[in-house]
Amino acid sequence: MDYETSINKNNIPQHVAIIMDGNGRWAKKQGEDRIFGHHEGVNSVREIVEACGEIGVKYLTLYAFSTENWDRPKEEVDALMELLVSTISMEAQNLHKKGVKLEVIGDVLSLPLSCQKELQQSMDLTAANTRVTLILALSYSSQWEITEAVKKIAAQVQSGHLAIKDINPRLIEQNLNTKHFPDPELMIRTSGEHRISNFLLWQLAYAEFYFTDVLWPDFRKQEFFKAIADYQQRERRFGKTGEQIQNN
Ligand code: IPE
Ligand code: IPE
Ligand code: MG
Repeated sequence: MDYETSINKNNIPQHVAIIMDGNGRWAKKQGEDRIFGHHEGVNSVREIVEACGEIGVKYLTLYAFSTENWDRPKEEVDALMELLVSTISMEAQNLHKKGVKLEVIGDVLSLPLSCQKELQQSMDLTAANTRVTLILALSYSSQWEITEAVKKIAAQVQSGHLAIKDINPRLIEQNLNTKHFPDPELMIRTSGEHRISNFLLWQLAYAEFYFTDVLWPDFRKQEFFKAIADYQQRERRFGKTGEQIQNN
């Protein structure tokens, strides 16, 4: 089935967030090293970014490396960092040509300097693009992000620039790494795991969740369109009743 034709172009989520999981298991199934799976996963990233451009998803956040992933074996962490640098340097021109703007969320300063440099160059190159914003979550965890926000807000209170009564959800949002992006309407996780693994805990408050057993290296355009079509069948209520939504 061609899922693209079943997509309603008037109900495309503005922002899709994806936990790209299952690279290691995919590689194991082929009798290869885990890192082979990460390499193949890059091809899925390329396709999904393209698919977003095709159907009009404006923001795509990809969970590429979590705070917790630092605890993996050193060889894997090093290989992932190398892959990150080489992928970004190879893909930057391509992203730029396709009108993609690159952004990063997470503890960027904890990444190797070569990564930081490559990321900065690509972000500068693509800064004026508007077709799709690709947000890489790198050395990211939601609890880290929220902790940083709390520190910033506390400092403003301590210095007398902010009153406690003025702390509200909007102010908290403005202190998150995602302050320039709308909240995702749809969160996809591949590989059959049904957990959130410290990803965008605040921002996913009202997102629709889509879980698939497909492993990330096998998650290509048709799988993405299938997820979008599934999302379009959902009724988003935001605390209201079904009747209220249908009569609106
Ligand atoms: C996701 O695939 C990629 C990263 C977390 C970097 P995994 O490496 O977690 O693959 P599995 O879950 O072990 O199969
Ligand atoms: C989540 O995947 C992080 C990324 C996809 C980058 P993991 O594979 O690290 O998640 P857990 O540890 O199994 O929950
Ligand atoms: Mg995993």
